[in-house]
Amino acid sequence: MRSHISCSPTIPVVSFEREELLSAPPGLYFKFHHRLRTAELFSAKPFHFFQPIINDEIRSLLQVVADNAGCVHIRKELYDATFCIISRIAISRRAKDLRSPSQNDHSSSLQNLLIDSIDLLGVQNIGDYKPCLAWMDLQGAKRAKAISTKIKSMWQQIIDDRRRTRLTRGSEIKDSDFLDVLLTASAQDDLQLSDLAIKAVLTNMFDAGIDSSTLTVEWAIAELLVHPRILQKAQQKLEEVVGAIRLVQESDIVRLPYLRAIIKETMRLHPIAPLFMPHTVDSKVWKDPLRFYPERFLDSNMEVRGQDFELLPFGSARRACPGLAFGLNNVHLMLSNLLICH
Ligand code: HEM
Repeated sequence: MRSHISCSPTIPVVSFEREELLSAPPGLYFKFHHRLRTAELFSAKPFHFFQPIINDEIRSLLQVVADNAGCVHIRKELYDATFCIISRIAISRRAKDLRSPSQNDHSSSLQNLLIDSIDLLGVQNIGDYKPCLAWMDLQGAKRAKAISTKIKSMWQQIIDDRRRTRLTRGSEIKDSDFLDVLLTASAQDDLQLSDLAIKAVLTNMFDAGIDSSTLTVEWAIAELLVHPRILQKAQQKLEEVVGAIRLVQESDIVRLPYLRAIIKETMRLHPIAPLFMPHTVDSKVWKDPLRFYPERFLDSNMEVRGQDFELLPFGSARRACPGLAFGLNNVHLMLSNLLICH
């Protein structure tokens, strides 16, 4: 039912002519998701593949914090790190290093264009509903269209370059990033992903993955700063399990129940998509609902993966967040590594 509702005719200002994953019709959408889940890159153990990229970018984030004696604009730095991680996993390049040859200034890097498109995400264009008001361009549809055109042209260049590289790699192509997975899928007859759909899916990955991950970590840090007891306990648990001389790895997370409880509590109190479903914290479900109290999860089996309906930060069922495992892993690693480098 929800998947059909998601296909209702809402037209975001920045639109890829309705090829987005967010508004794709269920048939293509689910076939595509199945293909992604079974792709080698995203199957059983993807993290040994992503871990070096995540480590690398977290190291750069910690370096920035150290260079500035701990005084940084944390949202900006988290945003930057998440952008680098997602773009390296998507296209094996950092989006901030990519510029179209015709626009060589910093403001038109792929990263900055995508940031502009994220700002416009979900903005409804009144002119689409009331054409007589379109001339007023109240939501900046013209600017949005210009951004969307630039993004599409940069993606096209990246796709064309990759197709050429794949030709030289020969028939034994192993998917090395998300773009490879998409190109392999597009070459398969039953799916027939158009280039426009590939560009839309790549853009969606940033639209959906950046703010969600960054804001979750930022909220966690904000809560820890106003709850020094919890901050101290989290740091102590991290030191017991990981020590202070190496980075926290994905394999450590399972041995860090207090860290996991902090992330759950952050997601409970500050869901990044509160309007997708009735997400208000309810005193019938939670004791002291407005209190930040990770301990509530220590003796509970409740998870955030869509089975426990009291806590649905990633949504649930067929249209649940496809980036759940990757996003969850990322927020744990970013937060924990910032905590051990105090
Ligand atoms: C803490 C991190 C994240 C949170 C809390 C989160 C949460 C969500 C939520 C609530 C939805 C909507 C589900 C619904 O319609 O019911 C969603 C959708 C989506 N997410 Fe995430 N997400 C996160 C990270 C990511 C990452 C890292 C990616 C990809 C790199 C991603 C990709 C997507 C996509 C493509 C959709 C659209 C799915 C659709 O149209 O059905 N997310 N996410």
